[in-house]
Order: sequence, then structure tokens, then C-alpha cells
Amino acid sequence: MKKTIISIAAALCTVTMFAQPQLKKDNLNEVLKAMTLEEKAALCVGGARAAIVEGVTSGLVNEVPGAAGNTRPIARLGIPNTVLADGPAGLRINPTREGAGQTFYCTGFPVGTLLASSWDVALVQKVTEAMGNEVLEYGVDVLLAPGTNIHRNPLCGRNFEYFSEDPILSGNIAAAYINGIQANGVGTSLKHYAANNQETNRNEDDAIVSARALREIYLKTFEIAIKKADPWTVMSSYNKLNGEYTQQSEDLLTKVLREDWGYKGIVMTDWGNKQGTVKAVHAQNDLMEPGNQNEIDRIVAAVKDGTLSEADLDRNVLNMLTYIVKTPHFNNYKYSNKPDLAAHAKVAREGAAESIVLLKNDGAALPMAGNESVALYGIGAIDFVAGGTGSGNVNKAYVVNMVDGLKNAGFKLDQAIIDYYQSYIAFDKASKKLAGTAQGWSTWGGTKYSEIAVPANAVASHAKANDAAIIVIGRNAGEGADRKVIDDFELTDIERNLISNVSREFHALGKKVVVVLNIGGVIETASWKHLADAIVLPWSPGQEGANAVADILVGKVNPSGKLPMTFPISYIDHPSSANFPSNYTRNTTPMFGWGRPAPKQKDVDFTNYEEGIWVGYRFFETNAVEVSYPFGFGLSYTSFAYSKPVVKAGKDGFTATVTVTNTGKVAGKEVVELYVSAPAAGLEKPEKELKAFAKTGLLQPGQSETLTFEVSAYELASFNENANCWETAAGAYTVKFGASVADIRATAAYKQAKAQTWAVSNAFVK
Ligand code: BGC
Repeated sequence: MKKTIISIAAALCTVTMFAQPQLKKDNLNEVLKAMTLEEKAALCVGGARAAIVEGVTSGLVNEVPGAAGNTRPIARLGIPNTVLADGPAGLRINPTREGAGQTFYCTGFPVGTLLASSWDVALVQKVTEAMGNEVLEYGVDVLLAPGTNIHRNPLCGRNFEYFSEDPILSGNIAAAYINGIQANGVGTSLKHYAANNQETNRNEDDAIVSARALREIYLKTFEIAIKKADPWTVMSSYNKLNGEYTQQSEDLLTKVLREDWGYKGIVMTDWGNKQGTVKAVHAQNDLMEPGNQNEIDRIVAAVKDGTLSEADLDRNVLNMLTYIVKTPHFNNYKYSNKPDLAAHAKVAREGAAESIVLLKNDGAALPMAGNESVALYGIGAIDFVAGGTGSGNVNKAYVVNMVDGLKNAGFKLDQAIIDYYQSYIAFDKASKKLAGTAQGWSTWGGTKYSEIAVPANAVASHAKANDAAIIVIGRNAGEGADRKVIDDFELTDIERNLISNVSREFHALGKKVVVVLNIGGVIETASWKHLADAIVLPWSPGQEGANAVADILVGKVNPSGKLPMTFPISYIDHPSSANFPSNYTRNTTPMFGWGRPAPKQKDVDFTNYEEGIWVGYRFFETNAVEVSYPFGFGLSYTSFAYSKPVVKAGKDGFTATVTVTNTGKVAGKEVVELYVSAPAAGLEKPEKELKAFAKTGLLQPGQSETLTFEVSAYELASFNENANCWETAAGAYTVKFGASVADIRATAAYKQAKAQTWAVSNAFVK
């Protein structure tokens, strides 16, 4: 009898099983129809670390330890879980697992700012193709990257993850990044959408931004990336925008993203649990991460009491199913857990070396022969910063610091100086009980030691004993905090003394001083740069770090990176400094006395983007404010000549060509930046704006290459917030071909025959 009941139950079960549609690429609507309200809600709420809804979902949750989140499986409908993990400089998962018998290290690639310094979309795509392979082979479906927020202000703690102060460069680099990752059949999450330009109070801060600045600067970078690359997912940000949380903003998520730009993928929240889940669903934020039961309950209750229409939920569920059927989990990809880390390390090194920026090279101080004896200074030479801290940190197997990198290249290092720093680090580590290589959230960042003074008389003897000096200035930056002006943007007194003592003693003996800036964000350079013969900027270059720096120092790679942002003379030269939550108060001292107003805001719950579109070079160039290094600047060991350019008007905008010739003695690559100055008609415009860029291949001495640029009429448009449309004025435009924004080598004319406008949705209309 008992046996009969069991078999009847089993038979019923089987019948029910067969009655359930199983998710396939072409039956999404059928699966949607078969879902209960609770299942629909659960699919729109992540399940990392949270209990699986009893009877609703089942399956693995923390399949990839250290992954930031996942989506919930619904076994009865054949819906698998999918896994989401950070972050821009490589995959962030835990490097070890209990009883696994192997490690799960990932490659630490160059940070976003360094990748953008390459101005080379093909290179960025090559790097991210390798990165994406680790995503695939470690069983992850979506890499939570790239971060494409604009460098509004140099102090934003996460600028290292982001690309540029300019939306055209930023958007195109983001697109290349996405295309590289997604070429592996895994997804990306373009983040943090939008106006997430500071870390201070990032969960509650309300960014007050004009419609014009939004469309032209802060949204433009996302628009380009969406249109040129189609990321599987977008991550809404923590902050509010014009009074509304971005994750709950129909203007942002439905009108701009989907109606204006035609985006078809899903939107997920950044990692927080805000109360307004129902509003987020309505706005078309499809997935709440990391997700909790309260969010499921809120959705279910709202549909039941009519405050959320089930059609809104269904629309998001359909978006989710469309995403899920693309994933490796759905396609049963058998990941190996064994990506080729050795091959990827080579790509990381190439990616870094090809992007490093040479800021100064007086008297051809570089390249060096590579066999010199070197006095290597700075705690950062040993405690080298490969990447930033926070979710963008990567659990990498090693970091090549400057000591190893220089030795690998053949330099002879003054061991006494290294020992001096090593003993200080050992002491500091012991006294602060600094963590070693813990896993997970505790590895949000490396440990960073504060700089230690080197006695001036010791420096004098180092100068006698060595051929040259290399000083490393190190800075850590990371998620959750903005940087400060004093002792971060500006050098510390110990660093200033070090640079000036080393400069004095080595220069007295006719020996060179090279400064390496191992930093995560812009620092002050104007007051001390005259003391160095050469300045090399590798930002935070990833695990192969100083191997790449050495490639530049010895000329194995000729530097071809250029700045993706301006290095101002003083912090307060940036108009945004008047409205950025820093505790900076030194603007009345003579050195910084540029007559700009004191910061109006400290730690308040809103940030007024009062400067509008006057971000970075748009401000500096238009107002002729002197800078330390302009946007787009970077030196080479060779020189380039630009031909007379040709600009041809087409049906839509223009095509431009310019021929670049290597006029120096060594092979090198050149980035050409195409700027446009618009006619003085209609809206007020920046003096010039970047519209396109291209990089040559490796040109041998005497060799030439013709670069081609396409600029459409839409790309020339400015946003008219009164008429709520994009408009391109008719008239005479000057097309400028620059080696930097301040070094225009050739110009040509373009005539826009007719004025043109493009309508947009009514988002952000006052
Ligand atoms: C960060 C995101 C990250 C997420 C998951 C958040 O705190 O802002 O960039 O992807 O955590 O780790």
C-alpha cells in the first residue's frame, strides 16, 4: 500500500515536471506564463549569501567563493543560477578554497585609468579578452565592470577604476573593454549609472546636475559604450540624481537608457538594499543585488495590493530571462578552473607598458642602458601598488615591485637602501599588526606603508656610489573614501624633502633623477617637477607592474600613453573643487591663491555640479587656465610629424585623414587626438572638444601611417536643455589634430551645411 502511494506521488510529480516548460532560448514567454508571482519576484532579486526561497528556488548559491553575487535558480523551470563577480582590473574571487587542492588566483591587470591612457581600443580589447577568459574559466557569468564614471574631480577615490575626464575617450575605451570581455561569451556590467563621481556619502549623496551636463558629460560616456558595445548588464549607482535614487529613476533606466539609446539588456542595482524596491522595479531596474527576502516580499505584496502592476514585473522578468539564456551557466559551459595565467600575465605586462605615460624627459634622461647602478627610493618601490582597494581589488598571485622589476631588467640596485626600507616595513608591519594575504572582503586592498625619511647625508653618499636615482611616489586609492588634498593630492613633506635632497645630490654629480608615479589618481606635480629629469606615470599597473615600468625605462617599449585627464597646477583650479566634499582649506596661501572661492560644501548630502559642462580640459582650455600637464599629453622617445590633414564632408558629418611620420631615431606609436571648435552660434561651447582619436601602429624611423577619423553630425551636437534636444549648429567648424589638447599640430575646416536636431525622451525636463 505504502509503495503504491509513493509511486502514484512519483508519477504525479513526473507529470507535473513534464507539464513545466523548461527554459529554452525560444520559449521565454511560455516560461514567464508558467511562473508564480513569488518566482517572478525571486528572479528579480539576487541570492548571494541569502537563503534560497523555500519551495520557490533551489540550486547552488555560493558556487564561486568570493563572487559578489548571483541570480536565483528556479529548478522546476530549468532556470539556472548565474554568477556575478567584480571588477575592473581583473576577476575578483577568493584565491583559495577549503580542500580544493588548487588555488584560484586571477590576473591583476592594469587599472582602468592606465588602460585609458593607452588611447588604444585594440589594446584594451586584447587585455579584456584575456580577462574575460578568466571570467569564463572560473565559472562566472558576468564581470561587474567596466566603471565608466567621469573623473569630475581628482579626489574621487575610485577614479583609478574609471577612465577619463572626457566622455568620448571614456565611452570608447569602455566599449572596447566590454567587447573584449563579451567576446568570451560572458557578460559585463557597465557601472555605476550615473553621476557617481564621489565616494563620500555615496549611498545617499544627491548629485544635482543640469540636463546639459548630464547628457554631454556624465551620460555621454554610457551612451557611447551602450551603442558601440551592448553590455549584457548595466549597474545603477548608489547615489541619487536630481533628488531620486538612480536605481529608482524611470528617467535614467527607461527613458534615457532604453528609449533614447535602445538598450536591451538588464539593469542591476549596486550592492545595497534600499527600501524603494517597488519603485526600482517600476523604473525597470530588473535585478536587486545582492538581494534579500524583504525585497522579494515587497514585490509580491505590491503586485497583490495593486501598487505595482504585474506587467512591470513581467517586463523585467522577460529582461532577466533574455539575459539568462545567454550565460555560460544556461549553456552548461564546463569551466576548467584553469585559465592560462602565465599567458595572461604577459598580456597584463604588455597592456601596462603600452599605456604608461612619460610626463617629462629632459636631456634624454630616458631610456637608460639597463645595467646602471641605481639608488632606488620610496617605500612604494617595495610596497608597490598594483591596483586600487575595494571591490576593484584582484586576488593575484604576486606583484612585481620596483626592486624585482629593475633587477629583472638588469639594473644593479643599491642593496643598503633596499634593506633600509625593508627593515622599516618589517617594523611597521609588526607594530600595526597589518594583515597578510587574507581572503575576500579583507583583501579589499594591499597594505600601504607611510613614507620614511632618508637622511640627507645618506643620500649624498648614495649619489657618489650610484649612476642614477629612481624615486617611487606611491599612493593607494580605493572604494568607500575620497582622497584628500593635503598629503595625498599634494606630496607629503617627507616626499618633498626626498625629491629635493636626491635631486640636489645626484645633480651635483651630473647624475639623473627619475620619478615614477605609482598612483591611483592625479597628484600635484607643478611645485616639484623641475627637480626630476624624467617622470614616468604607470598609475597602478597590475601584477606585472614594475616589469612594465622597466620596459619603459630601458626603452624596450617606447612610451606612447597619453593623459586621459588634466594634471592641474593646484587642486582648486578645478571648478568642481568648489563643490566636492573635501576638507581642503589651503586655497588662501599664496602658492594656491588663484583667487577661486573656498569650497562651499563639505560633507553634506548633496553635491551641486555647479560647474556644468566645464569639466577638465573643457574648463582649462576655454578659460586659458595654466595647467601642469594638459589632457592628452604624453612624450615618446621619438618624434612625429603630422601632414596637412584632409577633411571631407560626407552625407553625415565628415571623414578626416592625417598622415603621421616618425621623424626620430627609434620606432614608436603616436596617438592623434581630433578636436573640434564649433561655430559661435547658438549654445555656448568649450573652446575645443575631443571628437575622435586614433593610434598608429609601431612606426619605424621614417615610416608613415595615415589615420582616418569619422565624425557624424550627431557627434558634433550639443544638448539644448531648453528645447530638450541635441543640436548641431550650421556653419564653420575647425577640426584640430593634436598631440595633446594644448599641442595642436594641424587644422582643417569643416562646413556643416544645415543645422540639425535630434529629439530625445522627456527625461530630466524641468
Ligand atoms: C561596488 C560595485 C561592486 C559591488 C560588488 C559595490 O560596493 O560599488 O562596484 O561591483 O560592490 O562587489
